[in-house]
Amino acid sequence: MSKISGSCLIMLSSAFLMSACTTPPVGLSRYDADARSLLNRMTLDEKIGQMVQADSSGMKDITDIQTYHLGSVLSGGGSDPADGNSLAAWAAYYEACQEQAARTRLGIPILYGIDAVHGHNNVLGAVIFPHNIGLGCTRNPALVEEIGRIAAMEMRATGMHWTFAPCVTVPQDEHWGRTYEGYSEDPELVAELGAAAVRGLQGNGLDDPKSVLACAKHFAGDGGTQPDSGDFVNVGDRYNTGGARSGWDQGDTQCDEATFRRIHLAPYPTAITAGALSIMPSYSSWNGLKCSASKYLLTDVLKGEMGFEGFLVSDWEAIRQIDPDFKTAIGISINAGMDMAMEPTKYRTFYKYLKELVEEGTVPMSRIDDAVFRILRVKLAMGLMEEGYVAQGDPALQNEFGSEAHRAVARQAVRESLVLLKNEGHVFPASRTAKRIHVAGQAADNIGYQCGGWTIAWQGKSGDVTAGGTTVLGAVRKTVAPGTEVTYSKDGSGAEGADLCIVVVGEKPYAEGAGDDPDLQLADEELATVRQAAASGVPVITVLFSGRPIMVNGILDQSDAFIAAWFPGTEGLGVADVLFGDYQPTGKLSFTWPRSLDQIPINKGDGKTNPLFPYGFGLGK
Ligand code: GLC
Repeated sequence: MSKISGSCLIMLSSAFLMSACTTPPVGLSRYDADARSLLNRMTLDEKIGQMVQADSSGMKDITDIQTYHLGSVLSGGGSDPADGNSLAAWAAYYEACQEQAARTRLGIPILYGIDAVHGHNNVLGAVIFPHNIGLGCTRNPALVEEIGRIAAMEMRATGMHWTFAPCVTVPQDEHWGRTYEGYSEDPELVAELGAAAVRGLQGNGLDDPKSVLACAKHFAGDGGTQPDSGDFVNVGDRYNTGGARSGWDQGDTQCDEATFRRIHLAPYPTAITAGALSIMPSYSSWNGLKCSASKYLLTDVLKGEMGFEGFLVSDWEAIRQIDPDFKTAIGISINAGMDMAMEPTKYRTFYKYLKELVEEGTVPMSRIDDAVFRILRVKLAMGLMEEGYVAQGDPALQNEFGSEAHRAVARQAVRESLVLLKNEGHVFPASRTAKRIHVAGQAADNIGYQCGGWTIAWQGKSGDVTAGGTTVLGAVRKTVAPGTEVTYSKDGSGAEGADLCIVVVGEKPYAEGAGDDPDLQLADEELATVRQAAASGVPVITVLFSGRPIMVNGILDQSDAFIAAWFPGTEGLGVADVLFGDYQPTGKLSFTWPRSLDQIPINKGDGKTNPLFPYGFGLGK
């Protein structure tokens, strides 16, 4: 399908899209013969192995790739190489895994999956881009596509060729900890930017050495869940959750089918048309049925109606949530249309149970053959089976890893993602030749806070978490004139006598259910920082790092100017470009900003009124 027709599709209503996308968008059929031929040579054990994905930290022994003929390995958040997070360590581990796969009878390479969701964010020195909520405020699909290209190249520098991105969720309730992984509350904007991300990641074809396989997620309705009646529990680290419910995350989306299609299914036809060949079903449920267990959603709608030709990979241990009995759960999910199981630690058990289910006739061989055929065709399309396929990090791309050219694109993304919400008294933009500028707030000097979750660590973390970035404080210091003094305090003290105070406050990093939050308030120390700065009597520009619209009434009143910066990533110079007027703010809210908690959910077109800031708001150009 040509790019033009692709963009026309994006302009159509999502309802029409559902019927329009009946023809397979990517010509996978040219791989049918080779896939069929390989499939026919495979034993049942080898077929089942292709459907299993283990985690690098969860694997008992890397030789299990051989023993269980594993089709895939992932590194989930926090699953780092034993030798650390350097580019070299990741590339070495990837190569070691492929060496194991090469020793199997058929030598079918593994697919190596990782969450490169805002750059190659597990690897030290990678360029970290704004999270999707910020990209949504750019309204710039070309930029999102370019970001995908760069993320793909930085991934291939380590050898990895499959990312669990883009997240095409359509968050409807800011309490949800994964709101920032969504571009917008508006399904059409999500569809447009999600398709752009897929085009960028998959570039000039899946067999292009600079391309990676995209994975649209989480199908579907992950952003529409109702608050859980249960207590909020600490999600803890990923090996101890077992799918613990913490509030909104992994919950139940309760709505009629028309609403489900209009909001939550809408981004998938465009992602498929853009070429996405893997899709991750959601942990969440629709009207009480787990998406991972829904034959209607996975087979009838996704593979049938939408013509999806790729394969479905489960979320992390998501199959286990279907039934207390793991073997029963496996049978339900595979028969519903799941093709590959993300079973980080219990992959041996999964392998054993699925084989039993086939031998007992619970899972028909035709379903196994369909799943493996789908996986093999994608591997063939990616060139993994080509004679010359080099299963290692690309040295040329390693030279460009974290390059200034890549950082320049990330800086532009930061500029375009910032939304100016308030500007009174002509305080903004700041003067670079002021006598003294006081910078305040722990987030002003903390790359970890600036990048948010999914950065080096699953939950993100505080401090100098990676190399190559610039904090807002560092960016201000680089931007002002030589004669301008820049002072700093974490708590907002010391601003007296300055010409201006720039305060940076925000949410601490979080990911998934750990970010579910019933209050959406900044921590007291953050509020105190703004209060202290305002008490100095100097003009205050507040910059907010957050993964969503939160309750800001208290600090908005104490700020002369106010900028929503979301989680901008490593390139803090982009924030300074806006602060000092080198870039006129163009960002427009991609989420309605609620005035109070009792307004939530409040979204574009829902008829609710009087938000603090409406969808699409943004001062400046
Ligand atoms: C996580 C997330 C999913 C991610 C996967 C692998 O639990 O739900 O978005 O891709 O596991 O890390």
